Amino acid sequence: MIQEGRVKVNGQVVTQLGVKIDESRDRVEVDGRQVRLPSTKVYLLLNKPSGYIVTMDDPQKRKTVVELLPRLPVRVFPVGRLDGETEGALLFTNDGELANRLMHPRYQVKKIYEVKVKGFVEDKDLEKLEKGIFVDGRKTAPAKAKVIYRNKENSLVCLEVHEGRKHEVRKMFYALGFEVKRLRRVSFGGVTIKGLRRGFWRYLKPQEVERLKKLTNLTE
Ligand code: URA
Repeated sequence: MIQEGRVKVNGQVVTQLGVKIDESRDRVEVDGRQVRLPSTKVYLLLNKPSGYIVTMDDPQKRKTVVELLPRLPVRVFPVGRLDGETEGALLFTNDGELANRLMHPRYQVKKIYEVKVKGFVEDKDLEKLEKGIFVDGRKTAPAKAKVIYRNKENSLVCLEVHEGRKHEVRKMFYALGFEVKRLRRVSFGGVTIKGLRRGFWRYLKPQEVERLKKLTNLTE
């Protein structure tokens, strides 16, 4: 087709075989019709460190998660947010449908947090976390809470929630009178940061993508 002069790149007929293009920028036409690649869906997991904010563009030039992601030919977006000081599992994708569903309360996607707080978390506190507590005038949905360790100084609690309210974990502990010293999301929809170093990312495995789709009734 190139030899027949039917192929244009950015409006110019190409004559050279093997000419290289950048598929994210260059416009390729055959017989005057634009050729598009089937869009590629990308799914990444970042183990976010604290001190990076979740935005793709910060006018105030603070440290953002973008600095930790690879350069990709497509634009990806975070699936929900983590506070600047929160660490752990954060997904990025250009699959808008899956992202919206994962964030929608209807699908009750499970998020597991490790929460380090100041002081000794009593069993009655765990019960309250599990039953629901009033945060911003509304009761939190039932959660699962267990102690990983506790002493007079600090406690580490594993909390499983499936709501997605802003600052919800910090607010739940605050409502019980605890100061959160460290917050890390270890799992999102069953995708875990196990084995992924802080500040690093990886692609999701195909089975993980399939599982997230199943969780949100997205089957192709
Ligand atoms: N809950 C919080 O309080 N902060 C987060 O970053 C995520 C959940």
